[in-house]
Amino acid sequence: MPPPTQHSQRPVSKVSPFRVMSVMERAAELEKQGRNIVHMEVGEPDFSTASPIIEAGKQALDKGLTQYTPAAGIPELRDCLVAHYSERYSVDIARERIFITPGASGGLTLLANLLLAPGEGVLLGDPAYPCVRNFIHLMSAQPQLIPVTMEQNFQPTIEQLEQHCKENTRGLWLASPNNPTGTILERPLLQAVSDWTQQKNLHLLVDEIYHGLHYVDDLPSVLEFDQSSFVVNSFSKYFGMTGWRLGWIVVPEEFVSTANSLAQNLYISASSIAQYAALAAFSSEARVIFEERRRAFLERKEFLSKALKEIGFLFSDNIQGAFYIYANISKFSNDSEHFCQQMLEEHGVAITPGTDFGEYECNNFVRFAFTTDFQSLELGVERLRKALQPG
Ligand SMILES: Cc1ncc(COP(=O)(O)O)c(C=O)c1O
Repeated sequence: MPPPTQHSQRPVSKVSPFRVMSVMERAAELEKQGRNIVHMEVGEPDFSTASPIIEAGKQALDKGLTQYTPAAGIPELRDCLVAHYSERYSVDIARERIFITPGASGGLTLLANLLLAPGEGVLLGDPAYPCVRNFIHLMSAQPQLIPVTMEQNFQPTIEQLEQHCKENTRGLWLASPNNPTGTILERPLLQAVSDWTQQKNLHLLVDEIYHGLHYVDDLPSVLEFDQSSFVVNSFSKYFGMTGWRLGWIVVPEEFVSTANSLAQNLYISASSIAQYAALAAFSSEARVIFEERRRAFLERKEFLSKALKEIGFLFSDNIQGAFYIYANISKFSNDSEHFCQQMLEEHGVAITPGTDFGEYECNNFVRFAFTTDFQSLELGVERLRKALQPG
């Protein structure tokens, strides 16, 4: 019998820890010791789930709707999403192409299994949401990172895609709005990116999880012009349902059957209660709540941007969506992990180091999440001022 594979040779050995979770854990420890911490580390809306959704969840429990559902999700919820794409983006998506998943995370896991084989490469922007690199590693495939700068709105150019595309490249995975940068793929670039991937015969996956939480008038879905693309989305962010673990993906027609087999095998179905609850996310009552929250995020963004600029952080004025500010800290430090540790331990402000999101310039950047109330943001800013503008 051959000797067992060394841990260091297994795909899992390439999976890096999600640093923001360690920041959260340390912040919780400090709080247990009695310290007051301002939380600007976590990408989770501070609002609890909107009441119409909670009510619908309770009713589903009372009715005993606690069994497995079809692997692709309950038809009623998939139909709500069909209507959502039609109303919001004027595109017709057949219900079969929509799969309800356990969060965008479940959707990304399914798509990594659907689209990748060992040794294949996937182009990604750097910085990007960290787990994506790890899903690719778990398939023994290679993330092919494209460094993107603030000057280019943190999204890759077609010239860069050409430069970084290798023989083994099979796809391009992007997010719009992006985490950690809050920048979007504007319509002309999204169109160009889609044309480019089709020309090269690569798959295109766009993570649209922050749709709805945008501060610009035009935020296109890739599905408006590319039915061969793959979309990931979620009820976590705009719909405020992080802990319910519910998301969805849209796949091209020819992938429906394989995606269904994968869903059956990977997780059987998403949570039944969460799915019935999410039906209420499409009610006008819930929409009013989401829009109020979006306005609150916008106000927080305006406040925090102004304050952080005054302190000396450098970042784009063009934060187009999500709830993050990805700020250059070179005026203060060239070691983002040490900087974040210092802000947390000595000043009680939790933020995330750029090292979570990639390699390019990661030591010069940190991410602020404005997912906490106004009063806490003010306190956080006051602490940062004291720490970084002494005297
Ligand atoms: C870009 C991006 N994709 C996916 C996810 C995972 O979200 P979910 O809670 O839906 O699994 C996140 C979470 O922060 C994210 O920022």
